[in-house]
Amino acid sequence: EVLEERDLASVAKYMKSPECRRVFVMLGAGVSTAAGIPDFRSPGTGLYSNLQRLNLPYPEAVFEINYFRQNPVPFYTLARELYPGQFRPTLTHTFVKLLADHRLLDTCFTQNIDTLERQAGVPGDRIVEAHGSFASQHCVDCKASFDGAAMKRGVETGDIVKCGDCGGFVKPDIVFFGESLPPVFHQKVPRLRAADLLIVIGTSLTVHPFASLTSLVPAGCPRVLINMDPAGDFGTRADDVTLLGRCDAIVRDLCRELGWEAELDREWGK
Ligand code: OAD
Repeated sequence: EVLEERDLASVAKYMKSPECRRVFVMLGAGVSTAAGIPDFRSPGTGLYSNLQRLNLPYPEAVFEINYFRQNPVPFYTLARELYPGQFRPTLTHTFVKLLADHRLLDTCFTQNIDTLERQAGVPGDRIVEAHGSFASQHCVDCKASFDGAAMKRGVETGDIVKCGDCGGFVKPDIVFFGESLPPVFHQKVPRLRAADLLIVIGTSLTVHPFASLTSLVPAGCPRVLINMDPAGDFGTRADDVTLLGRCDAIVRDLCRELGWEAELDREWGK
């Protein structure tokens, strides 16, 4: 076993040791709830329990490509609320930036489409937006690309953007159920085999293939879950550490142990 105990202090001690060089991070919607963006599956507050007004056959349909082709209105309605630009990064996003500043971060795999990792200053080449983002958009039929201004206007006004060439609906390059993940995801995944530490934050680990990344790190690589609720198969390996609670509070405790707390506050306040 690599860690002395399965606790936060032992994780911090390991992170300060020369053995811990390549840290990987996996993020989900729970890291952005403190920024005011709802997650998907938390009962009551999650997006999937608040979509009645959209008259969907079932909540996930809003992110299904076949449903979108029939009826893009629910997605456009939701996109207005989720559109980036109105939110600011959380302490947890800033923690990922500190990992990069301390030359520990290999790759941050995120399921989030809010681009808050970038806004927090995590270098772009260290981020894998596994479920895409609002940064670009294409026609779902002929795949022609569209400029962001038209998309933004469409999302703001609720007017569905249609392709000038073929009349197909235009959709931001968010990965819907039924679509493949971006090539950069598949390029970066093999790096996990050389991981010294995996930190998973704010995800229910229910959507694959993303969730299965946790099994790709080597047997001797400690895995840390920071989440409100247990998730995935955490606890089944000798060096698994589960830290339950609000991620911003736990990340602050971890930074204190690392001697990074002042830096965390300074960076977050910028
Ligand atoms: P979920 O909503 O499934 O899970 C969020 C997790 O974060 C839950 O386990 C919460 O308990 C936890 N959580 C919420 N707030 C937290 C906080 N402040 N601190 C710590 N934990 C907190 O969201 P994801 O796992 O990200 O995909 O969902 C995965 C994918 O499902 C999304 O990327 C999206 C969705 O359908 C697509 O749309 C393709």
